[in-house]
Amino acid sequence: MTNPQNRATAIAHPNLAFIKYWGNRDDRLRIPVNSSVSVNLDGLQTQTTVEWGVDADSLILNGNYETGRALERVSAHLDVIRERLNLSMRASVLSANNFPMGTGIASSASSFAALTAAAVAAAGAQLSERELTTLARRGSGSASRSVPSGFVQWNKGDSHETSYADTIAAPDYWDIVDVIAVVSGSHKAVGSTEGHQSASTSDLQAGRVAGADERLRICTEAILSRDFIAFAEVVELDSNLMHAVMMTSRPPLFYWLPATLAIMEQVRRWRADGLQVCYTLDAGPNVHCICVRKDADQVKDGLKLMSGVLNVLTAPPGGPTKLLDKPTE
Ligand code: DP6
Repeated sequence: MTNPQNRATAIAHPNLAFIKYWGNRDDRLRIPVNSSVSVNLDGLQTQTTVEWGVDADSLILNGNYETGRALERVSAHLDVIRERLNLSMRASVLSANNFPMGTGIASSASSFAALTAAAVAAAGAQLSERELTTLARRGSGSASRSVPSGFVQWNKGDSHETSYADTIAAPDYWDIVDVIAVVSGSHKAVGSTEGHQSASTSDLQAGRVAGADERLRICTEAILSRDFIAFAEVVELDSNLMHAVMMTSRPPLFYWLPATLAIMEQVRRWRADGLQVCYTLDAGPNVHCICVRKDADQVKDGLKLMSGVLNVLTAPPGGPTKLLDKPTE
């Protein structure tokens, strides 16, 4: 297959992990210490166009011409794709998100999923979804989970080929919604990549990892049987464990703001009062409140009334990374 235009556009959603990825056994290959489970977030997306055959790698991100670390990271990922496809051409990358970056809504996941799919298609290559997940993983671990549709498991594996992601249930399998309470719009101080590298300095990481397979089993079973009570318990536990590791790493990482803690407490109270809602947090202070569809409006309205909540976003389960047939000019 060839692509005479040398150009393709892809759209990917970020994803929210229910069982978290935190720490690698191989930082370069991004082979994680534990498997993880997530759902893609519909409505939030990154659109990326790649064109091969230019003079030098370049990156325009949300309308800004990037030169520093952002370009280096994209260029390093293009190297991985060049090596796989036996290419020596350089590429221009045009990428835009419709959601705020660096706030715990993982933009790296949708960015590297879209970049991988667009770069491979622009080169005229066709790879299996599984291989695309492994390539996307090299750019950002969580990006592997944004490639397949809906509810997704990333199997940790022990090599590049065996560390891949796969759908466990379609987006419409379970009618849940991620109601995201945005409490800070500023860029996080310490990113996930540095966090993964320091995870093993926490005395608690070994304990977190030891129980991860069992939590993943319970979580997957809860998703497949749509058992919200079991799901809520294991999702909050897994998030709390990851943040305990973050806080006890050397140097420590504290992502919570006072409003973060207030929302977590409110979510637990709502659940005790009968709402089907639970919380989970990534490497940032924003709180993802996962609820069943019928309770989503009540959760959203309640969050909007809380002090410190700047904005509330809503995302149902989303589909896979997709190529656009006709790239926008
Ligand atoms: C807390 O995938 O962003 O969101 O591989 O260095 O890009 P890199 O890290 P990244 O880490 C995500 C961490 C997390 C948990 C999760 O999404 O599983």
